[in-house]
Amino acid sequence: MTKKRIGVLVGSLRKESFCRKIAKALQLLAPEAFEMEEIEIAGLEIYNQDFDDEGNPPAAWTALRERVKSYDAILFITPEYNRSVPAVLKNAIDIGSRPYGKNVWDGKPGAVVSVSPGGIGAFGANHHLRQSLVCLNVPVMQQPEAYIGNVATLFDADGVLSSDNTREFLQKFLQAFATWIVNNAPKQPLK
Ligand code: FNR
Repeated sequence: MTKKRIGVLVGSLRKESFCRKIAKALQLLAPEAFEMEEIEIAGLEIYNQDFDDEGNPPAAWTALRERVKSYDAILFITPEYNRSVPAVLKNAIDIGSRPYGKNVWDGKPGAVVSVSPGGIGAFGANHHLRQSLVCLNVPVMQQPEAYIGNVATLFDADGVLSSDNTREFLQKFLQAFATWIVNNAPKQPLK
């Protein structure tokens, strides 16, 4: 079985982040063929094009860009900040998208999970993120959409997913993502 390396971007730096708990739950439920690992984004300097223009990008940017290139697919797990994507996640996306013409997200199959303690499951963030991913040429899985609402009710005291419904949903989501990755892997153009 060919393993697929999945880079996971978590859009929260919070110690008790619900997004990270969902990321860990997904990791435990993942198909055998998945190797999922979180891509660290906490230490990235805020994007400033001058560093790229002067050929002197911060080491953390270069490391992120090289790391992203090594994955077969990217899973984005985002909270919602003011109906959009948190700056820390957008910053990582922007860094990977530049310098112009060297977008490391280009063509990598992706999927989005949005997470909120609120009832509408960070719908706004989910779709703002999809807007950027269209620009970056990431083929993003359409179905099933993953809006994880009321997330504070889904875990036990040890942070383990305790909702059977959510577990079943995440399993279906991962199966669909596995198919999506195979069907949308970069291909040679027709001649
Ligand atoms: C929030 N939160 C929030 N929630 C939501 O559903 N829609 C929103 O627009 C916002 N806006 C927002 C702005 C800012 C600046 C903060 C700090 C928070 C609440 C947010 O969903 C909650 O803090 C989550 O717990 C954040 O995700 P993590 O850190 O638990 O993964």
